[in-house]
Parts: sequence; C-alpha cells; structure tokens
Amino acid sequence: MENAPNILVTGGAGFIGSHTVVSLMQQGYNPVIVDDFRNSEKRVLKGIEKITGKRPIVHEVDVVNKESMRSIFEQYTFEGIIHFAAYKAVGESVQEPLKYYRNNLVSLMNCIELCEEFGVKNFVFSSSCTVYGEPDGIVVKETTPVKPASSPYGQTKQISEQMLKDAIASKSDLRVLCLRYFNPIGAHESSSIGELPLGIPSNLVPYVTQTAIGKLPQLTVFGDDYDTPDGSCIRDYIHVMDLAEAHIFGLRWLTHQDDNTYQIVNAGTGVGVSVLEIIHTFEKVSNAKLNWTIGPRREGDVSQIYADPKLAEDLLGWKTKRSLEESLRDAWNWEQKLANEE
Ligand code: WQD
Repeated sequence: MENAPNILVTGGAGFIGSHTVVSLMQQGYNPVIVDDFRNSEKRVLKGIEKITGKRPIVHEVDVVNKESMRSIFEQYTFEGIIHFAAYKAVGESVQEPLKYYRNNLVSLMNCIELCEEFGVKNFVFSSSCTVYGEPDGIVVKETTPVKPASSPYGQTKQISEQMLKDAIASKSDLRVLCLRYFNPIGAHESSSIGELPLGIPSNLVPYVTQTAIGKLPQLTVFGDDYDTPDGSCIRDYIHVMDLAEAHIFGLRWLTHQDDNTYQIVNAGTGVGVSVLEIIHTFEKVSNAKLNWTIGPRREGDVSQIYADPKLAEDLLGWKTKRSLEESLRDAWNWEQKLANEE
C-alpha cells in the first residue's frame, strides 16, 4: 500500500506476531518483520499472504545482533515498533535462565537504543501477566503490585518493563506502551495461520487440541484441589486476534501521546475460566470427546489470575470481541488443518 506507515515487528513470524502482522496490514500499515525463525516457521508468511493478499516484508535477522538490527533501521523510516521477539517458555527458562536473560534483555536493549538513535518513538512492548507473580487479588489491575516473578522468564519481563521505565526516566523521547498479555489462544478464523508449538506444547489449549486430534494420548489436568469453584486453576484466555487488534489500538494511542510516555495496559478479557471449563467448552464446540485425567499440581502455577480490562477500554478504546467458544473453535479448526497437511 502506497505511503503505508512502516512498523518494525520483531518476532513477527511468531504466534502473536503473525496475527498482529495480519491486523497491521488490514489496518493500512506496512509491517516489516524481523525474525530469525528460531521459534517460528516460514510457512507463516504464506498464511499471512493468503489472508491479506500480500506477502509481508521479512528480514531474517537475530535481534540480539545489534549491527544487523542497525542495518534494518538504516533501510526504513519506522513510525513505530512492536517488540515481540523473546523466549517465552516458563519451564525452559528454569532450566536455561541465562539463555533467557541474554536473549530477552539484549534484544530489548538493542531495540531501545536503535529506536532512540533513529528517532522511532512509538514503542509497543510485548509483556505478560506473568509479571504479577502470585498476585494478592485474583482480578489484576495495572496498579496491582508486582510480586517476585515465579520463573526466569517472568523475571525477564519484569526487568524489561523496568528497563523501558528507566529509559523514559532518563528523558528518552520514546513513547512506551507495555501490553501485559494474559493467555492468548486460538487462531485466525481462516485457519491460514495459528499456533505452532515447538515439540510437546506446555500451554493448555494446544495440548487440548493435539490430544483431541490424536497427536498426544491424554491431557493431564495439573491439579483439581485449588481453592476455586471446580478445583482447577483459573486464567484469562484471550483470542489471539483480539490481542493482535489491541496492538493496533495501542500504536494509534501512542502516536497521540507526548514524548517520554510510559504506560502499562492489561490485554485480557476480564473473564476467568478454569481448566475444566476449557475442557467442557472444547468438547462442546468440537463435538470431540477429550481423553483427560487429573494429575498433580504443576510447580509455579498460580491458582487464579485474570485481568481487569477497564483501562484498555478507557485509554485505548479497545476491548475483546471474540468469545471463548470462538477461540476454541478456531484453535480446533487450525489443529485439524495442520493434521490434513501432514
Ligand atoms: C494454563 C492452565 C495449567 C497444560 C503461561 C505463561 C504466560 C503466557 C501463557 C507467555 C494452568 C493448566 C496446562 C496442561 C494443565 N505465556 N494446564 N495441563 O501457565 O497460565 O501461562 O502461558 O507469555 O506468561 O506463564 O498457561 O497454558 O501453561 O496453563 O492443566 O497440560 O492450564 O496448570 O492452570 P499459563 P498454560
């Protein structure tokens, strides 16, 4: 599209990144993907093209490599950046903490310094509800006190937010929006793009759909003895396309802010859903009987957390539109599409 504003999207071939690239293209932006495909597949690019009719620009670059990143900034005038590129597996981060600190923090430092050097002011950062740790309340607001992170992954998100805040405090002219994602699930309604977990999924919904399709034998519910209505953990599951659209609203909001802005916003539905409710809702929308059993609790799980989404609506004018049923139906359609291609 002529004169479409360029947006740098690091990690733009990933699960949330690719869905956000679709939204950006549909909203008149020109996303420039930077991704080294360490945790994504090139097939995503064909899927994006199938949906939008246009193949997105991609540079296969490691965001940790500052000189390679500089060459990207030299090629484009960016209206903004959405920084997704990071490792995000909680369990893996416990096994390999330094890998997480180096990758997640150095990539962010590079983006902050290069944005300042090249005058790219509008900075959307991919944060996570994991920064809340085990919160005091169940429904978290942006002002809910942040507790000690329960994993090195969560620690990298806490440090990243602080790094951005300190850059702003040092009078950087950046305008920063930290979007704290809750639990992104589902896939684009066309089933052209979706979640591509590397190996056995640690997240619930891809584990559910892979069990239902027969790739995995049985789902284990990690504990049904929590202090919740049905004993299983409660989370805030948000359709990945709703989350993608939150980034567009966030970018638009940033372009109207003063320089030196720092804002945190929760990106959630505001509805808490238990693991057992996910199972029952999935069986309803898929008409598939799920093979599951109750097992022991998983280390590090918080029992309940979901968003108070009010600030996102008041500030950005954004709120979720898609239901849990749509999210699980889109996740299931995507899983079936993958199976048909194998
Ligand atoms: C959800 C619920 C599990 C698998 C993590 C990250 C968070 C974000 C989303 C990156 C929990 C239960 C799971 C299974 C189960 N990622 N479960 N059996 O842990 O809430 O959040 O992923 O940003 O930062 O922390 O998501 O999908 O792993 O678990 O019972 O086989 O499902 O115990 O209660 P989580 P999850």
